[in-house]
Amino acid sequence: MLSRTVSPDRTGGRKLARVVYDEATIAARVRALGREITAAYPHGDLLMLGLLKGSFIFLSDLVRRVERPLQVDFLVAASYGAEAASSGTVRLLYDPETILRGKHILLVEDIIETGKTLNRIVALLRERGPESLSICALLHKHVSEHLELDAAFVGFDAPQSFLVGYGLDHAEDFRHLPYIASLT
Ligand code: IMP
Ligand code: MG
Repeated sequence: MLSRTVSPDRTGGRKLARVVYDEATIAARVRALGREITAAYPHGDLLMLGLLKGSFIFLSDLVRRVERPLQVDFLVAASYGAEAASSGTVRLLYDPETILRGKHILLVEDIIETGKTLNRIVALLRERGPESLSICALLHKHVSEHLELDAAFVGFDAPQSFLVGYGLDHAEDFRHLPYIASLT
């Protein structure tokens, strides 16, 4: 059954405002993104690099829709406090063991808001000499003033509200919801 309403069983009774993207809508868009990515990379080694934790569900659905050889790895980044984040300080907690040099790197992100995290990661990855570097974001809020590299593939142009589910969290809750809902 498709979940078009927020299930109180899954949220422990906590209310979410509304479902913004239901399961069927997400699945259709992920399928289309898979086709776009398949067409965009005709040859060369493709490494799809998921930025954890937010991208874990999106990445796992997306890679199954890309019909070409590829490899999968992850990045775990931590930014320090509000001040450090605004200065763009990001540390990699897990650094992909896969060699990036000479490969097409597709960074897979849950949502782009200010783009600060992404800007630092893009700079880090560029130093590793990939053949190409592109971004695929499930959601894009289009509020960032400066993006080192804008997303080449975007699932949805998202509203300004705080979204949870399908990997996205609020204080680590709600990542397991099969749909995307707004918190307020
Ligand atoms: P940015 O560096 O401001 O672009 O922040 C991106 C990160 O902030 C995402 O990877 C999410 O972890 C988090 N984030 C931004 N907006 C939302 C939202 O609406 N819901 C959940 N997480 C969000
Ligand atoms: Mg988060």
